[in-house]
Amino acid sequence: MTAPILVTGGTGTLGGHVVPLLREAGREVRTLSRRDHGPGDGVEHFSADLLKGEGIEPAVKGVETVLHLAGGSKGDDKATWNLVGAVSKAGVRHIVYISVIGANTMPLSWFKTQLEAERAVTDSGIPWTMLRAAQFHDLVLKIVEKMGRMPVVPVPGGLRFQPVDSREVAARLVQLTLGRPAGLVPDLAGPTVYGMGELVGGYLRARGKRRMMMPVRMPGKAGKAYRAGENLSLDGADVGRRTWEEFLAERVR
Ligand SMILES: NC(=O)c1ccc[n+]([C@@H]2O[C@H](COP(=O)([O-])OP(=O)(O)OC[C@H]3O[C@@H](n4cnc5c(N)ncnc54)[C@H](OP(=O)(O)O)[C@@H]3O)[C@@H](O)[C@H]2O)c1
Repeated sequence: MTAPILVTGGTGTLGGHVVPLLREAGREVRTLSRRDHGPGDGVEHFSADLLKGEGIEPAVKGVETVLHLAGGSKGDDKATWNLVGAVSKAGVRHIVYISVIGANTMPLSWFKTQLEAERAVTDSGIPWTMLRAAQFHDLVLKIVEKMGRMPVVPVPGGLRFQPVDSREVAARLVQLTLGRPAGLVPDLAGPTVYGMGELVGGYLRARGKRRMMMPVRMPGKAGKAYRAGENLSLDGADVGRRTWEEFLAERVR
């Protein structure tokens, strides 16, 4: 019998796509997050807080592979160190981590935290695989929904994204999780680079809304890095197929 796979953050956006795919592949799955989302077929949930370091040990016991997706707006470095500490003692043989394109280049505290979380994995002594992905369509949608509520939409010039479909990221992660430890694999980005104005404009058109857009300049180091495209992966990345327009057609009425 094969050991169960632990998916941290298995109840989130990405986890919600990953878990059924692992089940379809015939694997027993454990999910770990703070809130219990009830039992699923062949899925055992463990309530734990990675940031506080509480409840992790029972979830990792008897597991050989951990797919680490849990994350939030802060503390992902500490949460990952806490996970890795528990995982090292449990005899885990493979840890797979989802990171973000720009973790190693963007001068913003959230990206620095992601780089530190990457370090927790690479320095763990456990064989690892890591995928850096672009922003998911789901996240971009949340951002443009908020922007679209303003009477005049401020659009930072030079801010570009390569949004990727979270289902395609999930499929890639499942392939990596079922494979052998592979280290840092090629980035996964969406098929098109869009300016912020194009992303907001596409959303407003899909909603049949009209808004005035006002170009603004993003100041400081962050603005400079975004204008230089340091959050993008233009060379050597794997490229997903689903576009922002296709995502909007499915999700926005
Ligand atoms: N969204 C993007 O555009 C994007 C792009 C590249 C990489 N990523 C990375 O992909 C991962 C998943 O993203 P997502 O969009 O699926 O996020 P999400 O929908 O916000 O889900 C986050 C998951 O992590 C769990 N979680 C958060 N804090 C936790 C804690 N302290 N202890 C235990 N579980 C915790 C959440 O459950 P509870 O709240 O119940 O604990 C949830 O299951 C993140 O690590 C993110 O950095 C995301």
